[in-house]
Formats: sequence, structure tokens, C-alpha cells
Amino acid sequence: MKTRTKASGTLRLLVSMLVATLVSAQVAPQPDGWPQFTYQGIITEPSALKYNPTGEFIFPSVFHAGYYLDEPLGEWYLYYAPHDNPGGVSLMYSDSLEGPWTEYASNPVISNVWAGHYSVPHVSSAMAFWNPDAGRLFVYFHGSNSVTRWAETDDGVTFDYGGIAVRNSMGGPNVTESSYARVFFHPDPSEYKYAMFYMGNELDNVRRIRLAESHNGRDWVVDPDYVVAPGPEEGANVSGANLWEWNDQLYVVYHASSGKTYARTIDSSLREVGEVPILLHKASGVGDDVGRVASPDIVTFEEETYLFYESGARLSALIAWAKVV
Ligand SMILES: *[C@@H]1O[C@H](CO)[C@@H](O)[C@H](O)[C@H]1NC(C)=O
Ligand SMILES: *[C@@H]1O[C@H](CO)[C@@H](O)[C@H](O)[C@H]1NC(C)=O
Repeated sequence: MKTRTKASGTLRLLVSMLVATLVSAQVAPQPDGWPQFTYQGIITEPSALKYNPTGEFIFPSVFHAGYYLDEPLGEWYLYYAPHDNPGGVSLMYSDSLEGPWTEYASNPVISNVWAGHYSVPHVSSAMAFWNPDAGRLFVYFHGSNSVTRWAETDDGVTFDYGGIAVRNSMGGPNVTESSYARVFFHPDPSEYKYAMFYMGNELDNVRRIRLAESHNGRDWVVDPDYVVAPGPEEGANVSGANLWEWNDQLYVVYHASSGKTYARTIDSSLREVGEVPILLHKASGVGDDVGRVASPDIVTFEEETYLFYESGARLSALIAWAKVV
């Protein structure tokens, strides 16, 4: 009896030590061959931009225009927008992912007032996605925070209004914001061809990542379960989620209140998610490379891998880029 008590006491001690180790190991080690991004600079220098209502810009979305559009302004398009009112989806273009980027002459290409469709305080968080069924570029954006809409274009600058892709009620009765969407091909196309991660805020004021799925990129069904809810490493909010594949593994990449950008493994159903985040990137703290790293958009092209992101404090961010060197 005595021995047994002692053994179970030892077991309890071991279990509590194990739990303590797991709780303190809030970030998983980076897998072999993980990309190490080095800061390269700011793309949206406010003083250099004609359309600059608020001195800040968020949520880069890079689109390979030269591959899809007839006579594009440049090989690559980069959509972005101010966060604060009035927002306004804006465009820069370049023949190289390394820049220099040229501001489109008449930004914004989508503004907060669109006659016959909506008039809202702001539109922001543009996501450019080529829809092969429609044979057009779809740009998703939120405005205001309770809806994510989309618009369609053949040239990247003149748009037809699409509609509302997701609204609060589609996520359940507690959802108060439905914004910061990224759209991509569903990695398991057996049921849905397209998928979306977006940020749902709720009555508890915790921002989580939600999943929506679609047959056509226009009509969406929201899954009742979260993809990522913040844990002790992340803090109160997670947002800006995107799908990324690296070395044959899918990840959901996203930013958090901690100011860092993380990755968690995810399966092709987009429902089995790793418990512990892996650090994707954080600011080095050297020179201009300070503050938050948010809204990641990773592009691999011709053997080079780039990270486009939102850099700096939440309401004074700029679009920055980093590269695996
Ligand atoms: C909504 O919030 C209430 C109060 O926190 C909670 O009891 C309920 O389970 C939530 N409903 C859903 C669908 O999340
Ligand atoms: C969560 O996000 C909201 C809105 O972006 C922000 O006001 C709040 O400060 C965030 N909370 C934390 C702890 O970062």
C-alpha cells in the first residue's frame, strides 16, 4: 500500500513536471529547412504616395498580373489599403517582386462609397485572387467591419461590384466583425473548390480565425468551428490568416497580439490544426525593422521566397518586405 502511494505520488510529480514543460513550451521548434526571412525595407513610404489619407497602410496582397491579365501595368500587382477611415483599396505595380513599386495613378481603385451598392466609413484588407471559373480577378475586401465583400475585374483597376461574401450572422449569433479575409484554392477540392480564412471577432472581444468554403468564390458557407483561437503565446487576438505550403506541409499563417507572425500545421480539410504555434517571423529590432509583423503574404517565385507584410504599430503600420537570403 505504502509503495503504491509513493509510486502514484512520483507519477503525479512527473505528470505535473510534464504539464509545466508543455505549458512553458508555447512555441514549437521550427522544422528543418524553415525559411529565415531578412527584412528588406518599406514599400509604402507615406510621403512618397499621392493617395495617403491616413499615413498608414495594411494587408498586402501580391498578384501575378503578367500571368493572367492582358497588357498589365507591370508583371506584379500589390494591393493594399489604409486601415483607418476612409480606407480605399489601392494598387502598386512592379516588374520585379523586389521593386521598385510604382503607385497607380488614380488610387483608390475601390473606395468606401460605391454608388448603388454601399456607403461605409471605410473599406480595407484587399485580397486579390484569380478566379479561373469566372476568368476574372476577384478582389475581396471588408467594409465596414461586419462584412467581407468582393468585386470583379478584367484589368485590375476597373471593377464590377460582386456582393457580400461573408457577414457576421453567417458565423453565428456572437460574431461582431467579419474581416481580413484571404482566399485560396481549397486544398481538398472534393467538396469545395475555394476556401477563405477570415477574422471573426465575437462578443467576448477575442478575435479568432474562421473558415468559409465555396463552389464558385461568390457564395460562401461558414464552418461553425474556429480554425485558430489564440493561446497563451498569441494573446487576445489572432488575425490576418493565410494558407501556405512549405516542404509538402500545409500551414495556416497568421499574426497575433504578441506582435509576431506564426504558423500552425493544418490538414487539407482545413479542420485539423496544430496545437502549438511555430514562429514564422518577428521584427529584428534593428534600424527600421521594428514593431509588429502582421498580415503575411508569402510568395515563392523562381527559387526566391518573399514575405510581404504589415510592419509596425497597429494603427501606424506600413507595407514591408523580407526575403530568404
Ligand atoms: C455565444 O456567447 C454566449 C455567452 O458567452 C455563449 O454561452 C454561447 O455558447 C455562444 N454561442 C456560440 C454559438 O458561440
Ligand atoms: C485586439 O484587437 C483589437 C482590435 O484590433 C484591439 O483594439 C485590441 O487592443 C487587441 N487586444 C490586444 C490585447 O492586443
